[in-house]
Amino acid sequence: MNAISLFSSSGIGDLGLKAKNIRTVIACELLADRMRLFSHNHPEATTFNGDIWKLKNHIVEYYKTTYNEPPFVILATPPCQGMSSNGMGTMLRNFRNGIRPKFDERNRLIIPAVDVIKELRPQWVIFENVPNMINTLIQDGDDSLINIIDYIHRELGDSYEGNPTVVDVADYGVPQHRKRLITILRRTSNPSKQVVHIPHPTHGKDSSIFVEPWVTLRSAISNLPPLSAEKGKNICKTLPLHRVPLLDDKKLFWVHNTPEGQTALNNQCINPKCRYQGNRIHGAKHDVDGINKANTDTPLYCEKCGELLPRPYTIDKTTGEKRFMKAFTSAYKRMSWDEPASTLTQNFQYACSDNKLHPSQDRVLSIYEALILQTISKYDYSFVIDGKCVPEGLIRDTIGESVPPLLIERIVEYIINYKP
Ligand SMILES: C[S@@+](CC[C@H](N)C(=O)[O-])C[C@H]1O[C@@H](n2cnc3c(N)ncnc32)[C@H](O)[C@@H]1O
Repeated sequence: MNAISLFSSSGIGDLGLKAKNIRTVIACELLADRMRLFSHNHPEATTFNGDIWKLKNHIVEYYKTTYNEPPFVILATPPCQGMSSNGMGTMLRNFRNGIRPKFDERNRLIIPAVDVIKELRPQWVIFENVPNMINTLIQDGDDSLINIIDYIHRELGDSYEGNPTVVDVADYGVPQHRKRLITILRRTSNPSKQVVHIPHPTHGKDSSIFVEPWVTLRSAISNLPPLSAEKGKNICKTLPLHRVPLLDDKKLFWVHNTPEGQTALNNQCINPKCRYQGNRIHGAKHDVDGINKANTDTPLYCEKCGELLPRPYTIDKTTGEKRFMKAFTSAYKRMSWDEPASTLTQNFQYACSDNKLHPSQDRVLSIYEALILQTISKYDYSFVIDGKCVPEGLIRDTIGESVPPLLIERIVEYIINYKP
């Protein structure tokens, strides 16, 4: 059974196809370094490196001249940055101020993907993206806008059935909370409007006769050698890629005083004579425009003894004064041992980014741990090409943007066994 992987990146999601004997015969990816890593790990595939808008016709022509049957599945995982909810605040504000929002061109990449699907008519299609995809508008023609999901239904609805649904990959055995919008389409001559194709969860918060409990950080990574973001303690000599970036003394102090599951922004007094635990904690609320803003009055000094709290601060360049750091409540936050990890992004090496701290050690997660938490380590995959490991930045991008292959494997099981 053949697959085509559009927006393949370095081919992580494709590992889940391969595990079920589905061969990715064609992959398309914009960035050359990711495509090279893809080819290294999926040497059987023909790769189309470049912009899908320019390559879509070549992909269709190549497939039609090489294979007689339509592909079994097309996996289409377009970039999500343009759909992230981070940009929605600005878009909303501009819209309210009468400024026409600037639409992200990347969101229109669904159009060439749909063109390939219409031409090659795979039996199944798997779209994966962030949940915000469901609210995304794209430009259709010169001046009209259409919701991206409506676009998919309008273009493919005559011969495909299936609706989007948000899943948390933790519900499929991935040791990570990662909410994604999955739209699985099945080719049929009689499409139902309501059907949602999605495998039953295999895991849940609590176990039952139907599901096992979520795979937690404790069961996934607690057996690994400890590390700390201090010089001399940040690299494991025995496990490749089990290493973390250094933190300066100030950040180590904040992180060291942060309890499991909490943010350093709420750290309490550590003056041995005071130890007041009731200092106001950091928060956020919606302003008059409906935009979520972090509080600006969170104390940096103990409200009882006046000592500096181990909370993140910046230094005012003119006065030299310490100021409570402007940050959201998820910055400098530790994960919890008895939960799956928080969502891994390309920023997983930054302590200040959302929920990125190790549950108990003074550091972020190592690349080695990230490979486990994204389930890549369950599969045969190598970052070493011609005896040389590819740059760390490429590995982090590849992990942070990928689809956990275990989720794809579960989806493939569903579609292979599907009986109409
Ligand atoms: C979310 S990632 C895909 C992840 C992949 N499925 C995996 O599991 O590893 C999206 C990919 O689309 C690629 N991309 C962005 N614009 C593109 C374009 N115009 N043509 C082809 N690929 C593009 C990005 O470089 C990125 O690697």
